[in-house]
Amino acid sequence: IVSISKQHSDINKKALVTSGPTHEPIDPVRYIANRSSGRQGHAIAAALAARGIETTLVSGPTDLPDPKGVNVIRVESAEQMLSACNDQLPIDVAICAAAVADWRVKDAGSQKMKKETGGLPTLELVENPDILHAISSRKKQRPDLVVGFAAETENVVKNATAKRLRKGCDWILANDVSIGTGTFGGEKNAIHFITDDGCEDWPHMTKQAVAERLVDSIVSHFSVPGK
Ligand code: CTP
Ligand code: CA
Repeated sequence: IVSISKQHSDINKKALVTSGPTHEPIDPVRYIANRSSGRQGHAIAAALAARGIETTLVSGPTDLPDPKGVNVIRVESAEQMLSACNDQLPIDVAICAAAVADWRVKDAGSQKMKKETGGLPTLELVENPDILHAISSRKKQRPDLVVGFAAETENVVKNATAKRLRKGCDWILANDVSIGTGTFGGEKNAIHFITDDGCEDWPHMTKQAVAERLVDSIVSHFSVPGK
């Protein structure tokens, strides 16, 4: 007799992770993008699923395979990412690791822009929705725990501490993405973990190790009685 039991779960919670860059259309063949690889967000989704936590990953375009045991929803633009995230609510914990493009082209054309129409094109940009802020500031269905990242090139801890308050999220993982650190799009991360209690400096480690340490913190958070 073979009995198939549900995978052991460390905590009975639902998680949502955003990952990757977004692509913001200019016209049908061109877009604005950034150097995010999606490695950190995908590693977090994999680490959550490995602990038996029901996990949905909303990802912008990446070359990465779908993490095992994760429900993956693929999107391109920031607006699509926000609406896919809203569709997943209610959830218990949201982790926004995507490098969402801050701006999109105001009137992306439905036809390819042509050179011969004369002159150089001017792209008018408008601000994209802030997904982390939108999730953090929901009156209804705000997840119990909202976690963001802060990509900074200077005054990392100071900027990220201010960013946590501005975004209204509970935890921020701040990293230095200056040229030369190899962080953005790279293999490793040096994280400053910022919560209400202050800042904890994590050693330089792989994105998988960052993911495991974050998931440990999430599991401990929800293991406190009453959470
Ligand atoms: N974020 C988001 N939606 C956006 C922009 C950012 O969800 N439109 C999230 C990212 O996933 C990350 C956090 O907000 O978790 C911080 O992103 P970051 O780019 O560092 O901050 P911004 O608020 O965009 O500020 P800036 O880029 O000007 O530093
Ligand atoms: Ca940004």
